Amino acid sequence: MDLYEYQAKDAFARHGVPTQSGEVVHSPQAAKEAAASIGGLVVVKAQVKTGGRGKAGGVKLATDPQDAYDKAHDILGLDIKGHIVRQVLINPAADIAEEYYVSFLLDRANRTFLAMASKEGGMEIEQLAVERPDALAKVPVDALVGVDRAKAEEIVDAAGFDDSVREQVITVLQRLWDVFVKEDATLVEVNPLVKTPTGEVVALDGKVSLDDNAGFRHPDHEALVDFTETDPLELRAKEKDLNYVKLSGSVGIIGNGAGLVMSTLDVVAYAGEEFGGQRPANFLDIGGGASAEVMADGLEIILSDPEVKAVFVNVFGGITACDAVANGIVQALELLAAKGDAVTMPLVVRLDGNNADLGRQILRDAANPLVELVDTMDGAARRVAELAAQGA
Ligand SMILES: Nc1ncnc2c1ncn2[C@@H]1O[C@H](COP(=O)(O)OP(=O)(O)O)[C@@H](O)[C@H]1O
Ligand SMILES: [Mg+2]
Repeated sequence: MDLYEYQAKDAFARHGVPTQSGEVVHSPQAAKEAAASIGGLVVVKAQVKTGGRGKAGGVKLATDPQDAYDKAHDILGLDIKGHIVRQVLINPAADIAEEYYVSFLLDRANRTFLAMASKEGGMEIEQLAVERPDALAKVPVDALVGVDRAKAEEIVDAAGFDDSVREQVITVLQRLWDVFVKEDATLVEVNPLVKTPTGEVVALDGKVSLDDNAGFRHPDHEALVDFTETDPLELRAKEKDLNYVKLSGSVGIIGNGAGLVMSTLDVVAYAGEEFGGQRPANFLDIGGGASAEVMADGLEIILSDPEVKAVFVNVFGGITACDAVANGIVQALELLAAKGDAVTMPLVVRLDGNNADLGRQILRDAANPLVELVDTMDGAARRVAELAAQGA
């Protein structure tokens, strides 16, 4: 999960990184009031999860509360790289003498953590890395050692920070490393970290990505989720503990095992070419125990997607054998019918693996006219794409 700038700065403040506190508001009137309570010059900053807001007109200086009203009015509703601005952060305007860049990230290619730092922050770092690679220091960080004083000195020296800010940047790096480790982040970036005319070092921007896999260790991170940007179907799936990702096609997919579901998406997309470009509508892995309840939950989510025209249930029986899955399907259809949510679109089922014959027999015996059995994965993908095209 990526955090908004204001959330990143809250995390910085909790871990002792010098930054600015401000107020997040959703209307020009509230921006005006926030500016009045902060006093003096303020900046109005679009809160969207993308960089380059400054260049896109999403960061503006305001001279007084009325000006903050006007600037917020301009910025709210802006589309920045596909992100609509719904909230702005009001911060005191800082006097800037110099702009720096510092970050920690997970360097997957080199199987380590990486620190990056530059005396030339402010501009987009991708651009700096391309145009002036030697101005961007890169220092690997051993996960077991982390950023102690010696490592922080190494980073600061590699980037060539001058003596006037050396001690402060060393401290900032160690505290940012605390943010990185203690919050289980995969990225912590400050651009710009500024030096003010009086020589203080302050983080004016912040970008933090949290590792969702560590979410169980951070009950407080739940509060950072912005539900307005989550797909409503994904939200409902999450409540039911389903591993569901909404896609944009017409073929609903249910499978067991992430690998099988991933390849099912590929096979359906491939087969769909022949039928006017039918594509998978979702990823849904119902995991090992394909009980009737899980199957019903999965079908319910998929069927509430108005784009879906046909469903492909692709199961390879392992520890949970195909007969159990077949019973799950039959009972799920009954369960949904009893709830008044009867399935009305075709279901193509491919069962293979442990007890496949028995599973198929159970489905044939149930004789639901909407359920069609196909023996091979490719054949089933083709058939479901055809049915989706007919239903479209
Ligand atoms: N509080 C502030 N006071 C003064 N200038 C600011 C402040 N916050 C940002 N800026 C200026 O705006 C530029 C862009 O803001 P930033 O927060 O880095 O957004 P982005 O990286 O998305 O463009 C910064 O490089 C800095 O020059
Ligand atoms: Mg920035």
